[in-house]
Amino acid sequence: MQSIKYPELKTQEIEHKKIISSMNLFIKKLPKMKILDIEKELAHFVQIWFISHIVYEDKKITQWINQNDIPEFSFCWINSYKIGNTTIDAEHQELFEIASEAFKEVHNDERKNKIRKTLNKLFKYFQNHFENEEEYMVSIKYDKTEEHKDIHTDIMNKLTNIIKKSPKMSIEDLEDILSNFIEDSLVNHILEEDKKITYWVEFLEDIKESKELKEL
Ligand SMILES: [Fe+2]
Ligand SMILES: [Fe+2]
Repeated sequence: MQSIKYPELKTQEIEHKKIISSMNLFIKKLPKMKILDIEKELAHFVQIWFISHIVYEDKKITQWINQNDIPEFSFCWINSYKIGNTTIDAEHQELFEIASEAFKEVHNDERKNKIRKTLNKLFKYFQNHFENEEEYMVSIKYDKTEEHKDIHTDIMNKLTNIIKKSPKMSIEDLEDILSNFIEDSLVNHILEEDKKITYWVEFLEDIKESKELKEL
């Protein structure tokens, strides 16, 4: 919802909180409830929250997408991608900007050219970003630096392959492949691998803190 700038995001957030808190309340009451009452309440809960939420609220998101011609491939930086290092976060954000250029509306004859330009830009920027990120991992003695570097090498190989094959590909295939690549090598890589660097930093801070406490 954030990424498609859905105007009723706040309402949805409130609804989600309500669902979670009434679920929590229900779980707390469970041990003291009779099985029949549990069944009744559960049925009511599913009816009210799941069905009406999905039917009424979530459907509105689909309407918003259709009304505003939001492209099938839309990549947008959101705050939950942050890993906590200002430079790395800014670079990730820039990668999203570059990636989304590939899917901006242009004249049909220009589409392929635009994607190729984006691929080359992405290649240069990824290379530079990986170097910086790897330097950062070494500087904080991240314990999985080598594994992480291997994943970066893998990503660069994939991108090289796409660039090599791109002249012979149809525009539709190219868009598909590029969008899968971005999903996998940018979004998922940040969420699954780069985020681990944050946990490592937090872990180091915890150790430092407990050492200081001991000294006191
Ligand atoms: Fe990374
Ligand atoms: Fe990264």
